Amino acid sequence: MSALLTVDGLAKRFGGNEAVKDVSFDVHPGECVVLAGDNGAGKSTVIKMISGVYQPTAGQVYFLGNRLTGQSAEAVRRAGIETIYQDLALADNLDPGLNLYLGREKTKRVLGLPVLDRAAMRRDAVDVLRGLGIVVPDPTASVREMSGGERQAIAIARAIHWHAQLVIMDEPTAALGVPEQREVMALIERLKAKGVGIILISHNLPDIFAAGDRIVVLARGVIAGNMRPEDTNDEEIVRMMMGATL
Ligand SMILES: Nc1ncnc2c1ncn2[C@@H]1O[C@H](COP(=O)(O)OP(=O)(O)OP(=O)(O)O)[C@@H](O)[C@H]1O
Ligand SMILES: [Mg+2]
Repeated sequence: MSALLTVDGLAKRFGGNEAVKDVSFDVHPGECVVLAGDNGAGKSTVIKMISGVYQPTAGQVYFLGNRLTGQSAEAVRRAGIETIYQDLALADNLDPGLNLYLGREKTKRVLGLPVLDRAAMRRDAVDVLRGLGIVVPDPTASVREMSGGERQAIAIARAIHWHAQLVIMDEPTAALGVPEQREVMALIERLKAKGVGIILISHNLPDIFAAGDRIVVLARGVIAGNMRPEDTNDEEIVRMMMGATL
């Protein structure tokens, strides 16, 4: 099967700091690639180069065979890659429907003038969330009042609604309670079952082994290991994270 995403020799320098030196890996449809690594290893920098937030100093990103490097974050999102950050994913003051349609709002005509169709967006949000097994108690409430797990579900619902083919999640469960962490992990399984590729950044070893079809370990900006979970174990992953030689 051909790769959904190919990351080829990515590097990023911030002044004198070579945050990412040489990172290459593939993501296939329905595959979850976990990016693991210690604080400052370069994980977030790698995903920001994929999502178009940073332009790489060197290297290329290919998505469905097309070169993605050099495109804006907006163009990358339109191409079918949704990136979900723990805090930045949602507009706090808006309800789930408006968050689902953020930047692509539905309108209706009233007396010939376009106005936001809040009711339709809210109905769609409730539908998409129900499809994920999530019932939001009050769909008219702003997402600020929702739990971390519900917020993650809305961000994931947005990825599904817009047919993202690749979803990138930077520590989606780091600030969540245990039941909400499970909810997000279950949503990852459902995305995989739909053939969506996932890049998951996680520090949590049980999550890494539960969700990962492939584990890519970053240490000081380079790849310290790339293996299937069944071919490795906790100790080896931790050793690689610490930058010990293979
Ligand atoms: N915008 C920036 N400007 C300058 N240096 C940066 C910038 N972003 C990241 N860095 C540096 O690049 C290195 C890698 O940072 P990055 O955020 O990618 O690490 P990370 O693996 O995501 O760590 P964490 O697990 O703590 O989130 C660090 O040394 C960091 O200080
Ligand atoms: Mg990070």
